[in-house]
Amino acid sequence: MTLLLEARDLSFGYTAERMLFEHLDLELEEGEAIGIAGVSGCGKSSLCQCLCGIIPHIKSGERRGGVYLKGQELADLRLCEIAVSVGMVFQEPEQQFFSPVLEANLAFGPENICLPRQQIGERISGALEFSRLEQYRLAHPRQLSGGQQQLGALSCILTLQPQVLIFDEAASQLDEDGCQLLDETIGRLKEQGKALIIVDHHMKRLHHADKILYLREGGWELK
Ligand SMILES: Nc1ncnc2c1ncn2[C@@H]1O[C@H](COP(=O)(O)OP(=O)(O)O)[C@@H](O)[C@H]1O
Ligand SMILES: [Mg+2]
Repeated sequence: MTLLLEARDLSFGYTAERMLFEHLDLELEEGEAIGIAGVSGCGKSSLCQCLCGIIPHIKSGERRGGVYLKGQELADLRLCEIAVSVGMVFQEPEQQFFSPVLEANLAFGPENICLPRQQIGERISGALEFSRLEQYRLAHPRQLSGGQQQLGALSCILTLQPQVLIFDEAASQLDEDGCQLLDETIGRLKEQGKALIIVDHHMKRLHHADKILYLREGGWELK
């Protein structure tokens, strides 16, 4: 199996006086799903941001140890180099949308890495087909149900074809139907061999995970 993402002896806090986690080791292989659980405020989102490079590239703090993408420290890569391998879906799907036309939001990533026009179109079609949103290609994101909006946000990331996908409490704003839709889609991503990080404080939503990292104040445990 290929090791894709690795945290080695990783410690992080927004200030050195209050570290959120220390000496954390985590390895994510191709096709593997790791769940992250822990109470609100324990540092789950901050860890996700360390794993996708938002920390240290956009947000800073006291960061020790390292995070490696196929052996390369994220701090030494540019954010756009990380984004083609690691994508993150947030709690709030609206964070991913800036255009009133769904497909324009999907074009943003591949346009940013300067793919040829035809390939951008193919990537958009592929992502919408995977998320079963083809019929909403020209719709306003707000015309979609909550679950579909989250799949739309996921589609924006899928156009970059990342090998690693991080879901940071992506189901928390969704109703039961939305949760089911997202859960089923996460299952299909796993079947495709994507490496997944799934954060949720509801254990039942972590059933796709092969291992679970429990974060708590003063320690962590991987089981
Ligand atoms: N940008 C920031 N600056 C300072 N403190 C922050 C920042 N973001 C989050 N925190 C604090 O860090 C702690 C962990 O937050 P977070 O990683 O969002 O936890 P979780 O996702 O588990 O709820 C919280 O106490 C939060 O208030
Ligand atoms: Mg969070």
